[in-house]
Amino acid sequence: MARTSGLFVTGTDTGVGKTVVARCIIQALRELNVDVAAMKPVETGVGRDGPADALALAESTDHSEPLELICPLRLELPAAPSVAAADVGSPLDLSTLREAWSTLQGRHEFVVVEGAGGLLVPLRENFDMADLALEMHLPLVVVARASLGTINHTLLTLREAQRRGLVVLGIIFSHGAGALSTADQKNFESLKVSLGDLVLGEVGFLEDPRQLEKGLLEGAKLWERIQSLDASPKIAS
Ligand SMILES: Nc1ncnc2c1ncn2[C@@H]1O[C@H](COP(=O)(O)OP(=O)(O)OP(=O)(O)O)[C@@H](O)[C@H]1O
Ligand SMILES: [Mg+2]
Repeated sequence: MARTSGLFVTGTDTGVGKTVVARCIIQALRELNVDVAAMKPVETGVGRDGPADALALAESTDHSEPLELICPLRLELPAAPSVAAADVGSPLDLSTLREAWSTLQGRHEFVVVEGAGGLLVPLRENFDMADLALEMHLPLVVVARASLGTINHTLLTLREAQRRGLVVLGIIFSHGAGALSTADQKNFESLKVSLGDLVLGEVGFLEDPRQLEKGLLEGAKLWERIQSLDASPKIAS
C-alpha cells in the first residue's frame, strides 16, 4: 500500500484543540525519529504578534522551516479565510499555498497540516477545507471536544468526510474543557463505544498546553495506522 506523506488535522469546530493535538502528533512522531514538518496553510486573526497557530507548530518542529512556508497565507480578520480575504479585497492566492506545500513535501518525510475551523470552512468560492485535504491527498485526523455537543459534531464531520471521499485516519479527543460532568462523561463514553477503532487517542486536560509532556499520544499506534493506510482518496459515491 502507498505510504502517506502526511495528515490533515481538521476539527469538528473552531477552538476544539487542533493546534494542541497537531503539536502532540508532531511530538509523538519526532520521538519515533520521523522527519516531520508542520503546515498551517491559512491562518486568520493574525495580528502584530504573527500567526499564533503557525508559531506554535513551528516551535514543535524546532523552527526547522521558515514561517513563510509553514503559513503562506495570513489574514488579519478573525473570520473564515474567504471572508477575511474578501475583507482585504482579494481572494486567497492558492498558488502560493500550493508552492509552499510542494516545497515542504519535497524536503520532509512527513507533513502535519492543520486546517482552519472544520471541513466546510471556505477558502474561496467553491473551495473549502475538505477540497484542500483532497487536493493534498491527505488522510484526516478529526479533533473533537470531549464535552456536550460532541456526538452531533463528530458524526456530522465523519459523514461529510465520507461523502467527500476523504480517508479518516482516526479521531482524537481533546479535553480542553477540563473535568466532565457525569452527563458529559456518559455522552462521551457512549460516543467512544460507537466509534470503536476510529478513536485514535485522547489528550487529557493540560495545565499549560504550551508545555507538552512526553507521551501524550501513543506514537507507535499512530505511526502503525499511518503506514497501513492507502492514502489515495476514495472516489465519492
Ligand atoms: N487538552 C487540552 N487541555 C487544555 N487546554 C486545551 C486542550 N485542548 C485545547 N485546549 C485549549 O483550548 C483552546 C483551543 O485549542 P486550539 O487552539 O488547539 O484549538 P484549534 O481547534 O486549533 O482552534 P483554531 O480553530 O483557532 O485553530 C486553546 O486555548 C488551547 O490551549
Ligand atoms: Mg488552531
